[in-house]
Amino acid sequence: MRATELHRAPLAARLAISGFVLVAIAGLSVCELLVNYSLHGLEHVELPGLESIRARYAYPRLKAAVLTDMGEYLDDPSEGELIARWCDEGGGRYGFYERVEPVLARRCAICHGNGATRGDVSLVTWAEVAPLSTVPGASVEELSSTTHTHLFAIGLLLLVLGGLFALTRFADWLKLALVALAYLSLAAEVGGWWLARLSEGWALLVLVAGLLLALSIATLGTLLLVDLWRLERRA
Ligand code: HEC
Repeated sequence: MRATELHRAPLAARLAISGFVLVAIAGLSVCELLVNYSLHGLEHVELPGLESIRARYAYPRLKAAVLTDMGEYLDDPSEGELIARWCDEGGGRYGFYERVEPVLARRCAICHGNGATRGDVSLVTWAEVAPLSTVPGASVEELSSTTHTHLFAIGLLLLVLGGLFALTRFADWLKLALVALAYLSLAAEVGGWWLARLSEGWALLVLVAGLLLALSIATLGTLLLVDLWRLERRA
């Protein structure tokens, strides 16, 4: 078997590779959604977008909460904007008891006050709120763990898909371009998570790199299937 004759592999091998490609693409779509966008049960799926990426990686958790799923407990959006603005100003003690605490006491205390700590969150004193209003985005612990799993899992997937794709009949430039694009997008996506903690503008990098990564994996998989099952032209 020459280096570009993957399609001549035995039927069982081609079936196994095809099954892997299909399962990988399905699994990856779900995993991308979970990592980059917050899902709160199927009735509350947020559309992939910049705002949900900012909420996940750049905004302090209190700001993210009032702008997303906890926003429904507020009477009107201006209360959420007030809390978000206070977080943008640094989320410090200044203004907390005058502007923010009255809203929290009225709207959120049933679940986050007076001994109620749903989601392990109490929102009564500034000392309790500060870790949620002054620290940006995902915690270092959470990000380290997601980075570790994501790089390892997707890296392994790219190794298998890219390695098999290199054995197809497609042109060398296409093989190089697709494999390079996939690895570069992976690096940019994960780098973007960390940079977004420093400045929310980097959320755009996460969005673009995530889309490119998904696109390059889908293309690698599809072309691999095409090569495996495309009949050879008879001379
Ligand atoms: C009916 C109960 C209920 C009310 C009212 C409520 N929450 Fe929550 N909240 C929860 C539950 C349950 C969780 C944990 C699950 C989750 O994150 O969705 C949570 C989680 C949170 C978190 C942590 C999110 C994270 O990143 O882990 C914050 C911050 C928060 N709420 C803020 C608020 C604010 C601000 C209000 C008022 C506008 C509010 N909540 C009103 C039930 C409530």
